[in-house]
Amino acid sequence: MEKLAIHGGKPVRSTPMPPRIMFDKTEKQAATRIIEKTMTGNQALDRYGGIEVDQYEKEFAGFFGRKFATAVSSGTAAIHSALASLGLEPTSEVITSPITDTGAVMPIIFQQCIPVFCDVEYETLNPSPESIKERITKKTGAIIVVHLAGMPARIDQICKIAQKHDIPVIEDCAQTHCAKYKGKLAGSFGTLSAFSLMSGKHTTSGGQGGMVLTDDENLYWNAKRFADRGKPFNSTEETNLFIGLNYRMTELEAAIGRQQLKKNKKIAEKRRKIYKQIMEGFKQELVAFRIVEAIPDSEPDPWFLFVHVQKDKLKAENQILAQALQAEGIPVGKKYIIPIYQQKWFKEKNTFGTSKFPWSLPYARKIEYEHCCPVAEKALENHMTLYIHEGYGNKEAEDIINAFKKVENFFLK
Ligand SMILES: Cc1ncc(COP(=O)(O)O)c(C=O)c1O
Repeated sequence: MEKLAIHGGKPVRSTPMPPRIMFDKTEKQAATRIIEKTMTGNQALDRYGGIEVDQYEKEFAGFFGRKFATAVSSGTAAIHSALASLGLEPTSEVITSPITDTGAVMPIIFQQCIPVFCDVEYETLNPSPESIKERITKKTGAIIVVHLAGMPARIDQICKIAQKHDIPVIEDCAQTHCAKYKGKLAGSFGTLSAFSLMSGKHTTSGGQGGMVLTDDENLYWNAKRFADRGKPFNSTEETNLFIGLNYRMTELEAAIGRQQLKKNKKIAEKRRKIYKQIMEGFKQELVAFRIVEAIPDSEPDPWFLFVHVQKDKLKAENQILAQALQAEGIPVGKKYIIPIYQQKWFKEKNTFGTSKFPWSLPYARKIEYEHCCPVAEKALENHMTLYIHEGYGNKEAEDIINAFKKVENFFLK
């Protein structure tokens, strides 16, 4: 049997995977145009000194077929502004997935609301509609639905459940900029949707950025106000209306983001192609590893790939498998994350001083978090992550399949 690289053998891939190149001359020209404007002495970098952020908002909303957009400084800021726009009472419950970024959960705490975790679907690790339904109470104020790793969640089903109870849905599209479900783009279903535009995502507005979309004019104004310290936009008041933060996007970021938006569809097409190629290869060649499939009637926009590991067929744990694959030159991770409710900050309720707000507030319903999402825990144990991007071609797909084959052959029971 061929020796694994981890044991001193020759790796399947000895050259690094191609770096992800997101920008070309279009972003360079857009950024240069803004910098040149600053040389004439005007307020060219702030959104109120130019037109780039306004235009980016219009174009972004147009892409998703939504009426209103508010550009902000990060995906976390987008989730926070979307949530704040709803004006929920403290101790309201917000249902969300335990398999998500902390940036989608911490805003719930900042709004003095209580996170309630729904379990996930084992295959995609996305929020389960049935579990969401079970966890709705009289105190539920919102549901945040993540489309994880570019795989659409069952968003129409979730929206139907939410509508029955008159609960707003926020789609978290941080990892999904151009995925479709039943012919509609993810991000066009919920009451609001929130995007991250940091540079690791499908498209970026520079280093960091975010966007909030909605068709509801009141929510739009609230999100916009919140993202600028409660300024009285669309109001006759002279002073600020409520507390908020300064989450404004800059002109430079928006100028870059506008160029990136034009590339969104192409990026998704290329990522889908590489995803399908790797998935087919796995189906034909492997028995213990499987690439996670998107739900029927959907077109994913893969960000990274979840690889299902059939543990009973292998002699090694994920950590060893990941090390072996990395040594073969393949960018994998042994596990995506630890469920949010098992993370230190959450378990210890490290929030505002020693107060343990919002959990310790009067009227907060006591929530039992320990092992509250068993499917999520099991799914995380049985899935590894495989990092891909739109710059990968046939050679990268082949190397990935061959490396997994080599590692599988070695560790197969
Ligand atoms: C699902 C999800 N939501 C929210 C965020 C937060 O976005 P940002 O890092 O831009 O603040 C991320 C970031 O990775 C994410 O993956």
